[in-house]
Amino acid sequence: MSTDDAKRRAAEAAIDYVESGMVVGVGTGSTANHFIECLAGIKSRLDGTVASSEATALRLKAHGIQVLELNAAGTLPLYVDGADEATRQLQLIKGGGGALTREKVVAAASEKFVCIADDSKLVGYLGKFPLPVEVIPMARSFVARELVKLHGQPELREGFTTDNGNLILDVFNLEIMQPAELETQINQIPGVVTVGLFARRPADVLILGSADGVETLT
Ligand code: 5RP
Repeated sequence: MSTDDAKRRAAEAAIDYVESGMVVGVGTGSTANHFIECLAGIKSRLDGTVASSEATALRLKAHGIQVLELNAAGTLPLYVDGADEATRQLQLIKGGGGALTREKVVAAASEKFVCIADDSKLVGYLGKFPLPVEVIPMARSFVARELVKLHGQPELREGFTTDNGNLILDVFNLEIMQPAELETQINQIPGVVTVGLFARRPADVLILGSADGVETLT
């Protein structure tokens, strides 16, 4: 079974968390795209969706699924999104697709965050995947120097601008033993918009797809 099939399995399992009349938060990436395909099959039962990126909004609309502004939707009952790395404590690295800021906002605004991934994303500790940090453009070099002080090696994601008009620094070689503490530390650097660590607000449910089926961690 391919990685993509494993992602699809996880996405299909997440549909069990969708109830009639819900406004559902929808994440970004290839796993979230499988979830959108599944949502399309039950769209008449939804009250709408909130997208975590412009790309996801376009894809939802292409399937005829209503997309609402988060400001109009209020607290969401459910958010479904992928991850770049996940631990058994349901702490995550996200932002490989560059949508980390809106993803973190929608996750924070949701009562339940269901993370969907293929089982290769499960790790003992976070940090092998380079940690994305969204920064405002004028602060790029300053933030990079501060990240070096935290023992990371930041690299500018070349040719990439976020939906919010900002830049991404991908931070290599971090062994993240205390994710919640590092999340706070990086968030406090002036010029940082968001760090792609989801540790202070981890997922509530992690669904891992594999050749054997799905494993659900809570
Ligand atoms: C986008 C994300 C994605 O959830 C993450 O990159 C996983 O992507 P994929 O489902 O394609 O493996 O955080 O910003």
